[in-house]
Amino acid sequence: MTATPSAERLLSWYDRHHRDLPWRVSPSMAARGARADPYRVWLSEVMLQQTTVQAVKRYFIAFTTRWPTVFDLARAESEEVMKAWAGLGYYARARNLKKCAEAVAFEHGGVFPDTETALKALPGIGDYTAAAIAAIAFDRQSAVLDGNVERVIARLHAVETPLPAAKPAMRALVAAMTPASRPGDFAQAMMDLGATICTPRRPACALCPLNTDCRVSGRQDPELFPRKAEKKARPVRLGAAFVAETAEGAIYLRKRRASGLLGGMTEVPGTGWTARQDGETGAEAAPFPAAWRACGVITHVFTHFELRLSVYHARAPQAAPDGDGDGDGWWQPRETLSGEALPTVMKKAIRQAVPEAFVKARFP
Ligand code: ADE
Repeated sequence: MTATPSAERLLSWYDRHHRDLPWRVSPSMAARGARADPYRVWLSEVMLQQTTVQAVKRYFIAFTTRWPTVFDLARAESEEVMKAWAGLGYYARARNLKKCAEAVAFEHGGVFPDTETALKALPGIGDYTAAAIAAIAFDRQSAVLDGNVERVIARLHAVETPLPAAKPAMRALVAAMTPASRPGDFAQAMMDLGATICTPRRPACALCPLNTDCRVSGRQDPELFPRKAEKKARPVRLGAAFVAETAEGAIYLRKRRASGLLGGMTEVPGTGWTARQDGETGAEAAPFPAAWRACGVITHVFTHFELRLSVYHARAPQAAPDGDGDGDGWWQPRETLSGEALPTVMKKAIRQAVPEAFVKARFP
């Protein structure tokens, strides 16, 4: 089957206007025989699940500099991988990343499988990621549908069914448009079009290579596509976080249990996060007695709830706590705080109590 005229137009637009991204092989390099490294494609796609291209770039460069091959990542200490991932969010991805690297390195001889089905059998690889890796790394004609592509395809065909119900129909529309030749570039071209031209607000329809095919181009309301089912309001949960600091500025930290939300990451001691103000978010819930001072509330939005965390600060002598009694904490010197596996919500809490905690050391 030859490519549809719209796929051809999109690919020639991509040849001229693709974004230069650190995990990409540009069309001109590909024409000279360069191939995408499946390890880099996989790593970038896992990082890009739920996180923006802008945020991912520096993490991707840091990971591939430190762990250039799947064997390096498979042999890395989990703790080091979690630290390097801190700030990217969705920490189950980092745990699966390590498991997947181990599976590829030790069970597949370091070679990524090259079909969607075999890719999906690996930890942390779902429908989207398998399709993206198969297309980008192995030039498989798989239909790749992420948020950007959903927007492009919904507008192109004026899809009236709201998301998420429209996904299977959208995937079928993408499949029908995906060419046998250069399917990986086609997938990335759809993503780039969604990110730079067919944007959520004020799409630049005049510049779009698909505007003559598009059912909503020229209409007043392209922004109304894709249609979305009404979202339920996020519930609010409440909790407290306790930032204890020594005279030297070391902060008391501990590790969260391995499974569950932010599993295996580092935290300051705190209460559970409950749906009600039930009296357990005050200083009386502190992990050890000290002159706790309330220093405000921070909010952090998780996928399924919004967290409002009351933050407390106290000066404590280094010897004071054996932590919260279970002896699993430690005092982290200020200079090395930013290298810890602290998720963003914990950095916010620490910053609320100690605004200068993450200010980089200045050298004269
Ligand atoms: N979003 C997810 N995967 C991507 C990719 N390969 N290029 C650009 N944006 C993306």
